[in-house]
Amino acid sequence: MKVTVVGAGAVGASCAEYIAIKDFASEVVLVDIKENFAEGKAMDLMQCASLNGFDTKIVGSTNDYSKTAGSDIAVITSGIPRKPGMTREELIGINAGIVRSVAENLIKHSPNVILIVVSNPMDTMTYLVHKATNHPKHKIIGMGGALDSARFKYRLSEALGCPTSDVDGMVIAAHSDTGMLPLTRLAVRNGVPVSNFLSTERLEQVAQDTKVGGATLTGMLGTSAWYAPGAAVSALVQAIACDQKKMFPCSLMLNGEYGQSDICLGVPAILGSNGVEKIVEIELNDAEKAKFNESADAVRVVNGDLASVLA
Ligand code: LAC
Repeated sequence: MKVTVVGAGAVGASCAEYIAIKDFASEVVLVDIKENFAEGKAMDLMQCASLNGFDTKIVGSTNDYSKTAGSDIAVITSGIPRKPGMTREELIGINAGIVRSVAENLIKHSPNVILIVVSNPMDTMTYLVHKATNHPKHKIIGMGGALDSARFKYRLSEALGCPTSDVDGMVIAAHSDTGMLPLTRLAVRNGVPVSNFLSTERLEQVAQDTKVGGATLTGMLGTSAWYAPGAAVSALVQAIACDQKKMFPCSLMLNGEYGQSDICLGVPAILGSNGVEKIVEIELNDAEKAKFNESADAVRVVNGDLASVLA
């Protein structure tokens, strides 16, 4: 199992580290445009192998995609992260061109690769990869929901005063500060609805804190977060690499599901060795449907900015 991670910045390197520590891949290729940067990160990570007990080989490459040839899975983290006060959508001008050329290079060297898009604005970047390449739909996955759901579980556990292993929940729709839809109605603590323990007001606060999860950290760190994004990507990579058939909300091209078409938005899906094996449709109530559609409308506006990159 060969995995490529493009972008050796904080998210890419942390993703490579988690993949290596879990020790399910034979090789991770880290690619970056900055001379020697990916090679340096790869060497530093390889020097953890004997300490952390993994056999995954990590290789760095300065923009040489021939080293990525034959990858089963590739993660795209390239582009610039947001700075405090910026929205993910403001990154589109710079990141769209980069993501397009990275995706094309990856597919050229690994025609069967399963692509995981992380660069922001993620739902629009995932849509761009679909539109700019002829790659099969089930092999293009946007990473947002897995991260947002982890942040939701963190906030739920904080509100409940319990470990995260006690809670389960999911965030769907867009990976944006306003477009996320944390499904508080369906969240549970050991199978019991969280509304049994938390007031409507407290649950609304949990949802709000979840939606601005990335922005909160960007304000505190001065740049975008990396540990949880890296861990979320590595969980998707492992689900595919180990054919786990796990369910994660991912940004996928919709064709009528959830009443939407020609758009990438976060919906629950089963991931296995074929990539996206099934989109899971769940019944949303009227308020959730309205929020999902509002989120789609906002993503469509951002997608409109791709015209020049797709021309
Ligand atoms: C975040 C970035 C990865 O939410 O979008 O931290």
